[in-house]
Amino acid sequence: MSFDLVLFGGTGDLAWRKLMPALFQAFRHGSLPAEGRIIGVSREDLTEDAYRELIRSRFKAVEGAKRPSEEEFKKFSEMLTFQRMDLSKPSDYAQLADLLKTRNAETVVMYVATAPSLFTQVVEQIAAAGLNGPQTRVVLEKPLGHDLASNQAINAAVRKVLHENQVFRIDHYLGKPSVQNLFALRFGNSLFEPIWRREHIANIQITIAEDLGVEKRGAFYDQTGALRDMVQNHALQLVCAIGMEPPINAHADAIRDEKLKVLRSLKRWTPETLGLHAIRGQYTAGTAYGERVPGYKEEAGVPPDSRTETFVALRTEIENWRWAGVPIYIRTGKRLGSRDARIEMNFRPAPHAIFRTPVGVANKLVINLQPKDGLELHLLAQAQDQRVTIKGGVRSDMVPLAPVQLDLDFDKRFGAERVGAYERLLLDVIAGRLNLFVRSDEQEEAWRWVEPLIDSWGADGAPRPYAAGTWGPSASSAMIARDGFAWGEEQ
Ligand code: BG6
Repeated sequence: MSFDLVLFGGTGDLAWRKLMPALFQAFRHGSLPAEGRIIGVSREDLTEDAYRELIRSRFKAVEGAKRPSEEEFKKFSEMLTFQRMDLSKPSDYAQLADLLKTRNAETVVMYVATAPSLFTQVVEQIAAAGLNGPQTRVVLEKPLGHDLASNQAINAAVRKVLHENQVFRIDHYLGKPSVQNLFALRFGNSLFEPIWRREHIANIQITIAEDLGVEKRGAFYDQTGALRDMVQNHALQLVCAIGMEPPINAHADAIRDEKLKVLRSLKRWTPETLGLHAIRGQYTAGTAYGERVPGYKEEAGVPPDSRTETFVALRTEIENWRWAGVPIYIRTGKRLGSRDARIEMNFRPAPHAIFRTPVGVANKLVINLQPKDGLELHLLAQAQDQRVTIKGGVRSDMVPLAPVQLDLDFDKRFGAERVGAYERLLLDVIAGRLNLFVRSDEQEEAWRWVEPLIDSWGADGAPRPYAAGTWGPSASSAMIARDGFAWGEEQ
């Protein structure tokens, strides 16, 4: 199958950090259709050779085994070409149209990895140049807008010129192998379904922790913050994957209908819950990797009086029959203790104790997203010697139990070189598979839910400070402790 992939933002951060390495992996795995062309677009004045050289130089930063050899890069780079464009100029889109006409590929993917403020303009201009035909698929990167109104405006502009099934709103968390395995675990097996509900689950915890700071993205991040960067999209998509009802089939809309219902059922915010169930923090100087690192306000591009949050902890509920009353805790942040993303389903303790169990320990299922990718089932077992103990002359019949875990390591089982999130999603776009992409109504509902937080945080005070390398402000632990729970072990 022939395809052209036009990469707006072709010299940008995302192109060289994620997209090019993912395209190269797909090429190396032989899954990228051979008759393809990748057209990098940017306003820089580059020749095709200079563009190839630029991408080659950036591959040097790619970790060991994933880096192409000279020979491999040479072959891969034959797919790469470059088009200089000023995205505001219709004549430049006409030139792009001419370039595309030289091949008339069966599929044309327009990947808009530019600043979000340019999305509407790019999509409108693509259409004005007649490039929105049925063979075209448009990929929109997050953040799609900065609030509900701006998101709706982008969606409305997109809807005018493209069918919903031509629009691929990317959330790369949905492409992670562990998230796909969560769907497999829930809907390919019957084991967990009967207990995947309020009667058996005490609470759900989602942690997406990063140890890095904002790196070179300070100026962008300061306009965004953790709520828009991680919660509105990635964390809420995880809530959907855990909370949704089984879809009637595996088609994109069947899945997306169920996810939308979850978003619609999320507990609405009240002045009281905004105070008690939403904690934000900002990192100060601290220690990471044994070294002193600066605080957020000292990072390049960040104003010294910034009130942008780099940490968020929230408590919510899905208000439906399956989940009513089960707290869902979400926390995410930069410069936390380690890079660690996981979902913990904490089961209720046994209703009647005939064994001695360690305090506060019950069954839990942990879905590890990264750095490890796998499942852990935490159980209690008789791990100790069973000789009857006589305590103070009284025989104790309460045998002690100890925590043990069944550990399924997907990397070990299926190989660490499995298809990465962007690789998977790019191939899905080329193949026209929408299952792992977000529909406009889902996205709008997610904005609707976070908007009261944006408004309330915009109106008052500064985030709570936490030292880099710790697990966020203590208010986050206090929030969960009020329900009688604690965050799962920090790794
Ligand atoms: C991106 C955010 O969407 O996800 C980044 O914009 C964040 O700030 C990244 O670092 C995390 O992705 P991953 O796959 O490394 O967990």
